[in-house]
Amino acid sequence: MQPVKIGLLGLGTVGGGTVSVLTRNAAEIARRAGRAIHITHAAARDYKADRIPGVELIKRIGDDAFAVVDDPEIDIVIELIGGYDPARELVLKAIANGKHVVTANKALIALHGNEIFAAAQKQGVMVAFEAAVAGGIPIIKAVREGLAANNIESVAGIINGTGNFILTEMRDHGRNFSDVLAEAQALGYAEADPTFDVEGIDAAHKLTILASLAFGIPLQFDKTYTEGISTITAEDVAYAGEFGYRIKHLGITRKTEQGIELRVHPTLIPERRLIANVDGVMNAVLVQGDAVGPTLYYGAGAGAEPTASAVVADVVDVVRTMTTDPGNRVPHLAFQPDELSDLPIVPMDDVETAYYLRMQARDKTGVMARVAGILAANDISIEAIQQKTSEEGLDAVPLVMLTHKVREGQMNQAIEDIESLDTINGRVMRLRVEHLDG
Ligand code: HSE
Repeated sequence: MQPVKIGLLGLGTVGGGTVSVLTRNAAEIARRAGRAIHITHAAARDYKADRIPGVELIKRIGDDAFAVVDDPEIDIVIELIGGYDPARELVLKAIANGKHVVTANKALIALHGNEIFAAAQKQGVMVAFEAAVAGGIPIIKAVREGLAANNIESVAGIINGTGNFILTEMRDHGRNFSDVLAEAQALGYAEADPTFDVEGIDAAHKLTILASLAFGIPLQFDKTYTEGISTITAEDVAYAGEFGYRIKHLGITRKTEQGIELRVHPTLIPERRLIANVDGVMNAVLVQGDAVGPTLYYGAGAGAEPTASAVVADVVDVVRTMTTDPGNRVPHLAFQPDELSDLPIVPMDDVETAYYLRMQARDKTGVMARVAGILAANDISIEAIQQKTSEEGLDAVPLVMLTHKVREGQMNQAIEDIESLDTINGRVMRLRVEHLDG
């Protein structure tokens, strides 16, 4: 049988990894796919040939990505240039040209996936995106296919390796934020714009995709609540530890009676949970299904070869099903396109969680009672409270507490009231707490 011909867009970290893996494991991959897979045309602005074993086997490498998607020889286009533009145009052109697409581009899928999947369905081609979420972990396949029997109840994941690497280093070695970020960039984990990592945008892209697969809703990135980790202090990490919690940057989506929760934010998790012990660049996704119960998927969430592992698995998947009837393939978003539901996204004010609060209180009689009074007036029950020793030279002491579950709107009101007390200095630090106990 003729080899399948691949057009590759991008020879950066993941593109280089993909060439290396496809070359090194060519024989094993062909045994699985049933055909040899050859990259015959690639486009890259610049690349380090000496660092990409196998790149010399690519017949044609230029700098024109459109020449690749228009190349009549190509069966499958792998898009690894990232970003919204020109990736969207390239992918739509590839689809219009009748080519299947494999992409690692979470931003593209989260924002333009609805349009891209509709175009692909019309053309009868596949768009595979396993590498877009949690790097090497086959989480798309697990949620879309492996858990197809379930009514999925929730998905909670550490889905940004850079952020997890930073939080882990801060906790274990007391390193500062910018130092660790620079190292993550050097290791090729971080996005081109690293604020996407630390402000939760990258995780929100991935969560948007997971929510659609889990609940059969259209992709709705613009409705995902996003909060980053750049305001977390070493004290917060330490105080959380004293309460028996770890701080992780979580993406959470949950089906409730009001609709679908869709939120990314730093979160305290009990340290005894497996997911609380996922450290460094590793990712983990906890999926709760009504039949299967809790399932946890763990692995490298970023990096050249782990991400290439997912890209190449998608290529194998596409090769195996290229000749099948398009109407009988696994739907892009797990549910048949005409069966997507319009469940509403729950506004953040109506989301219920427990909270960690930290504030600087003037060391005066009755301060703690006034704070407790405000919480009680807003129907918020305190689970634990601690007054820490003050830093030398400061007349304020840190007050940290955990609350029971409450509606976010009520907590916002309480925080506003606490911040208006003349015995509280500055802003109240608020972090959400999730027990993840199903
Ligand atoms: N910047 C991303 C991360 C890469 O750190 O997880 C993988 O999507």
